[in-house]
Amino acid sequence: MGGGIAGHELAAAVSEAGGLGTIAIQPPEALAAEIKAARRVTGRPIAVNLLLPFARRGHWEAAARADVVVTFWGAPKRRAPGSWVHQCGSVKEAVAAQRAGADAVIAQGVEAGGHVRGTVPALELLEHVRRELPDGYPVLLAGGIATREDVADALEAGATAAVVGTRFLLSDESRAHPEYKRRLMEADETLLTELFGAGWPRAPHRVVANDATRRWLRRDPRGPAAARALNTAMGPLAARLPASIQGRMVASQHPGRPILSPQPPSDTTPEGLLESGPLYAGETVARIADVRGAADLTRDLAP
Ligand SMILES: Cc1cc2nc3c(=O)[nH]c(=O)nc-3n(C[C@H](O)[C@H](O)[C@H](O)COP(=O)(O)O)c2cc1C
Repeated sequence: MGGGIAGHELAAAVSEAGGLGTIAIQPPEALAAEIKAARRVTGRPIAVNLLLPFARRGHWEAAARADVVVTFWGAPKRRAPGSWVHQCGSVKEAVAAQRAGADAVIAQGVEAGGHVRGTVPALELLEHVRRELPDGYPVLLAGGIATREDVADALEAGATAAVVGTRFLLSDESRAHPEYKRRLMEADETLLTELFGAGWPRAPHRVVANDATRRWLRRDPRGPAAARALNTAMGPLAARLPASIQGRMVASQHPGRPILSPQPPSDTTPEGLLESGPLYAGETVARIADVRGAADLTRDLAP
């Protein structure tokens, strides 16, 4: 979980309890430091997630020190030695990843939280992906999994393992802003939008409502057409701005202006993001009403 949410505390707790914890993309030096910090807490494998539109050489160098690299959002291509998993939203993408040498794919369903590549429910995508990939090829399932029963259903349907985001967003170790966590505990509905697309355009994401979504999604769930066009025009440039300028843009963002970045409210971001930033969450948020320790959650998820 990017946006400063999944650091070494969460990843190490998950791995130590028997899962494979994942550290999110962040600047290369910070990523290297997070991997080191995780290694101090656990001797078990650790994964790193890289978002392809933002991954530069330094990210690949840092990520090579993890046990597994998970990539998302872009043409699958092997860029680092070691175990590589690509998260996919379609059969076509899954086949391309397998052909490009991925060791496993994640089939992401449309019910997932955060950025959503899938367009059909996870179990449906799994069935189609399984049919097109060789027998025994590992296919992990993401989207809609928050309980042991969900994991059992995924495995029963042929998934090799379950990938869980939203449930761990609501963990003690997640660096999501405490008020963001509180709102998710109360939420029972999500929206699929492109509203928070400054710097990452044409990338649907699932969120819980706040002032920004109430203000801008009345006519079109994707967001105002002019803002989407501007985000698309600015896309590649915005993603390459120095971190300090991006930080200033995030700090000055306001729910009344529809140019909104993908940065969610975390422990270290301005309070204003609770209303002007994305409150990412998957559909399982309707079934989650507590914040718990990640190790406990991991043990409870195992069937
Ligand atoms: C807050 C949040 C941030 C996310 N950030 C990323 C990310 O940076 N990279 C990525 O590959 N997937 C990201 N995802 C998507 C997850 O990999 C996964 O597909 C999703 O969480 C699964 O659905 P679930 O939320 O219903 O468990 C994110 C999900 C959430 C909830």
